[in-house]
Amino acid sequence: MKISENTAVLVTGGASGLGLAVVEKFVSLGAKVAVFDMNEEEGLKVASQHGVSFEKVDVSDPKSVADGLSSIRGSIGQESVCVNCAGIGFSQKTVSKGRNHKFELLIKQYV
Ligand SMILES: NC(=O)c1ccc[n+]([C@@H]2O[C@H](COP(=O)([O-])OP(=O)(O)OC[C@H]3O[C@@H](n4cnc5c(N)ncnc54)[C@H](O)[C@@H]3O)[C@@H](O)[C@H]2O)c1
Repeated sequence: MKISENTAVLVTGGASGLGLAVVEKFVSLGAKVAVFDMNEEEGLKVASQHGVSFEKVDVSDPKSVADGLSSIRGSIGQESVCVNCAGIGFSQKTVSKGRNHKFELLIKQYV
């Protein structure tokens, strides 16, 4: 796929880590980039440092995602690339004394 100034890219979790690295790469290729992240403070910093659009979105909430999509389509246009990096990384025993694994959180976040 040829990436140009006409390529609209959405990066979820783009305020930090893997997502931020993806944002930087697409910006360096000249694409129009929008970031969804629930961390507004870091997201706004990334927006101002890299000249990208930012929307405070919780990817586990369908309404939040729908609102975010409407908003970014007004700024960068219809996205043709979406890189999902929003996430939480933790490891936990499936079964342990007195504490259950946080399956509900994982399902809400990733399914
Ligand atoms: N870093 C690694 O080496 C690595 C390896 C394998 C998998 N992963 C997975 O990739 C994902 C990103 O890892 P990372 O190291 O970049 O983490 P990170 O914590 O640096 O970045 C994750 C970003 O996602 C955002 N986020 C979290 N939940 C969100 C939600 N519900 N809605 C919107 N934004 C949300 C956070 O605010 C944060 O900015 C995680 O799921 C992690 O488990 C990371």
